[in-house]
Amino acid sequence: MKLSPLQQVRYQYAPKLPGMLRNGIAEISVKEGQVTQSVSDQEKIKALFPNTYGKNEITFEKGQNTSESKKQVVGVILSGGQAPGGHNVICGLYDALKATNKENVLFGFKNGPIGLVEDDLLEFDDAYIDQFRNTGGFDIIGSGRTKLESDEQFAIAADVCKKHGINAIVIIGGDDSNTNAAVLAEYFAAHNTGIQVIGCPKTIDGDLKNEDIEISFGFDTATKTYSELIGNIQRDANSAKKYWHFIKVMGRSASHVALECALETQPNICLISEEVAEKKMSLSQIADYMADSVEARAAKGMNFGVAVIPEGVVEFVPEFGALIGEINELLAGSKADDFNSLESWADKYSFIEKGLSKDSMNVFAILPQSIQQQLFLERDPHGNVQVSLIESEKLFSALVADKLAERKAKGTYNGKFGPLHHFFGYEGRCAFPSNFDSDYCYSIGYNATMLIQYGYTGYLSKVSNLSYPANEWVAGGMPITKMMNMERRHGEDKPVIKKALVELDGAPFKFFAANREKWAVETSYLYPGAIQYYGPEAVCDLTTRTLALEQE
Ligand code: FBP
Repeated sequence: MKLSPLQQVRYQYAPKLPGMLRNGIAEISVKEGQVTQSVSDQEKIKALFPNTYGKNEITFEKGQNTSESKKQVVGVILSGGQAPGGHNVICGLYDALKATNKENVLFGFKNGPIGLVEDDLLEFDDAYIDQFRNTGGFDIIGSGRTKLESDEQFAIAADVCKKHGINAIVIIGGDDSNTNAAVLAEYFAAHNTGIQVIGCPKTIDGDLKNEDIEISFGFDTATKTYSELIGNIQRDANSAKKYWHFIKVMGRSASHVALECALETQPNICLISEEVAEKKMSLSQIADYMADSVEARAAKGMNFGVAVIPEGVVEFVPEFGALIGEINELLAGSKADDFNSLESWADKYSFIEKGLSKDSMNVFAILPQSIQQQLFLERDPHGNVQVSLIESEKLFSALVADKLAERKAKGTYNGKFGPLHHFFGYEGRCAFPSNFDSDYCYSIGYNATMLIQYGYTGYLSKVSNLSYPANEWVAGGMPITKMMNMERRHGEDKPVIKKALVELDGAPFKFFAANREKWAVETSYLYPGAIQYYGPEAVCDLTTRTLALEQE
């Protein structure tokens, strides 16, 4: 395999561990903290997790290691979307296992959770692991989105573990995967299998967090990658002075990614889905808000700008949500075949017109035709509209163009509007991890081994105090049930990890809100540039603005 020069030198990078994990395995002791309870619905969650609920917080300290010395055989799984640093979690796990006992074994289940039930795995050794140190991607074993949630799957998983002598499973995943990790941990405990389950907090979306889990891994690198690109586009916009760039950024429902990119680059506009929902904004109000910036800048002779749009924003517009609900009903069951048998768009349009309520039809009618058609083309396996596939960057630029045309007719706007569209998502998910993600992920993995060694199950590997230098980071564990609440899923009440959305009274949003009016009319762009791996710490080890503001 031919390696790029950066890959060759990144192999040599030694990730930084929290101070208390730096003294060798024999010098890591454990301290139990407070008992925990779930974020809400305590009685229901307790009843569903009788063996793993209400356990104590854990912190590791420098001190004599008192864990039982026994051979560990561990299986690791990468679950869900890629996030930079996943390879380092596995490297950290492996190194800590081997440092504890050379006979310890680490298996990797291939292609996500399915590998566990299909007994598809490989055993890691030094040569294999070394190829993946400090690299992006999940190709070390592959990932997948299969959910492990039924007792049948859990029973098979227990058999597979027994066959290979596996005594602990580490699941590296987002909120859904760690929900499944908690359920699996409870099943294994209830059935006295002796198999522990530890979760690791992954997702570029940044929506798996609470007061203990300060950030999910991958968020730092992904947002730095998108911010570099947004900054470059801003510089191009400010040089050519003729385009308005509408940039959608990944992040599923929550707007953490968009907000962090806005804090790093100071674009003219950034929509925050959680605010759209709170203010119950309509599409027309959002378009007016954006057109105000275009108009104000045009009045100053600046017919250019940059607008950042979070991936999930349309789901948060109440009238759009109602429209999606009606479309799902309109095409339920065999009605989809009736619709698909219509040949022309005009016939389909009148079918839609007859089926939608007046309010939803009003919303539908203002959408550009390409978006109207997307709503009827892209369905998920349950027959629902896939909101994340809607090209909202094009939707909003078309709505803004309509508003500007109206304003031109009224004589309030006399500028030129040249929109261009971008979507940044996959570009950031497998980037070389930043120093922060390299260090954080390696620490999470190393720490997961310590949780296994000390016999814990149903815990998330937790590394905190992250806005400080790595030697001041704090390693420990948090029972996954602490993050759980009951939610309605597919018509049933289910225990799930509560998704963390952007808090409108939190410091990152407040900072953004205090500055955005200025950014909207002036050109206050910041150009963060590419992630740096070598050079001054102030540049290379910089954490996200979100984390810095939250911990200020
Ligand atoms: P996870 O929640 O599994 O970490 O995935 C996050 C994400 O990257 C979202 O931001 C995005 O909407 C989605 O995955 C895309 O999924 P896919 O990889 O299946 O296209």
